[in-house]
Amino acid sequence: MFNSLKAQAPDKILALMGQFRADPRPEKVDLGVGVYKDADGRTPVMRAVKAAEKQLWDSETTKTYTALAGEPAFHAAMATNVLGADYPADRLSCLATVGGTGACRQGFELARMANPEATIWVSDPTWPNHLSILAFMKQDYKLYRYFDSAARTVAFDAMMEDLAAVKAGDVVLLHGCCHNPTGANLTLEQWAAVADLLEAKGAVPMIDLAYQGFGDGLEQDAAGTRLIAARLPEVIIAASCSKNFGIYRERTGCLMVLSDAASKEVTQGTLAYLNRQSYSFAPDHGARLVTMVLTDPALKADWMAELEEVRTGMLGLREQLAAELRQLSNSDRFDFIARHRGMFSRLGASPEAVEKMRVDNAIYMVGDSRLNIAGLNAKTVPLLARAIIAAGV
Ligand code: LMR
Repeated sequence: MFNSLKAQAPDKILALMGQFRADPRPEKVDLGVGVYKDADGRTPVMRAVKAAEKQLWDSETTKTYTALAGEPAFHAAMATNVLGADYPADRLSCLATVGGTGACRQGFELARMANPEATIWVSDPTWPNHLSILAFMKQDYKLYRYFDSAARTVAFDAMMEDLAAVKAGDVVLLHGCCHNPTGANLTLEQWAAVADLLEAKGAVPMIDLAYQGFGDGLEQDAAGTRLIAARLPEVIIAASCSKNFGIYRERTGCLMVLSDAASKEVTQGTLAYLNRQSYSFAPDHGARLVTMVLTDPALKADWMAELEEVRTGMLGLREQLAAELRQLSNSDRFDFIARHRGMFSRLGASPEAVEKMRVDNAIYMVGDSRLNIAGLNAKTVPLLARAIIAAGV
């Protein structure tokens, strides 16, 4: 039967990761996959996570199964971190998931169970795996315009124009912060306008929050999500711990669903059911570390301090790259790099220019010219700036 299988197109981001590893050139620069790297190109285990792991090694006495939906302590810690200490516990259901991808997948599954007629509205562009998962699920989706590729800003009027066609019960997927792949984000006023529109339409916002703490700060990056959660009766939030806790391979994520209080019990039960049908229990190790870090004041303070170092380091690289390009291009047309937030910016280079930078300079970025700022350091920024100009961007 297996000879009937058709070859699947490889995931572009993960394929690029393999291509980079195979490149023998020592000067190569990886601006591809969304993984944080320090100035030496390492992805460190965060200090607080390491300390929690040591404590856990001493204190953990069993590895028997945990709860199907994950530990209540993990739910509470994540809800507090994402929604604030005054989150509405009586309306919130939570699910430990296999990373942020798992949270997205289970969120889509839940939406489909609740409303098989729903269309999922997705920003154009978005993280390619959103589209890939939706296509795999044979789930109807539509794109809404999001990015002004000339100005490299949010095309807000176009976005609102497209979202005006949303129907009651549709799901609108939004990036909570640090939009992937563009780096262009909604202002709080724009979040409020989106909330008004979705409320008027009776649509359900779904927020993918994968980079909380990488943009304007831990609290600031949750502000849009909190605004939506305070305004809309039903909200889906897919939060990832991969990036802000640096625990990529532990596969730790949390799906949070706000419903009316009367629907909470069935919603929570449906979430647990979705885990059981997919893989039974989500991995526990990363979720336990996150819970420890978020609930121990000393660990939390150290984690927040390190996360802030990561964030400000990326901002510094953005400033440096924009300044180099200002000088080399004798213009301010690359200043958007300093205004974007998070790990990514979409440069606006053609696929040919992206390819030229890979061939000539061993600089790897995703084909749509998304670059991972964290892949740079003070020494490679000038190399990238020169390569961008040489490629005619
Ligand atoms: C990315 O966009 O590079 C990250 O979210 C990693 C991934 O899984 O694609």
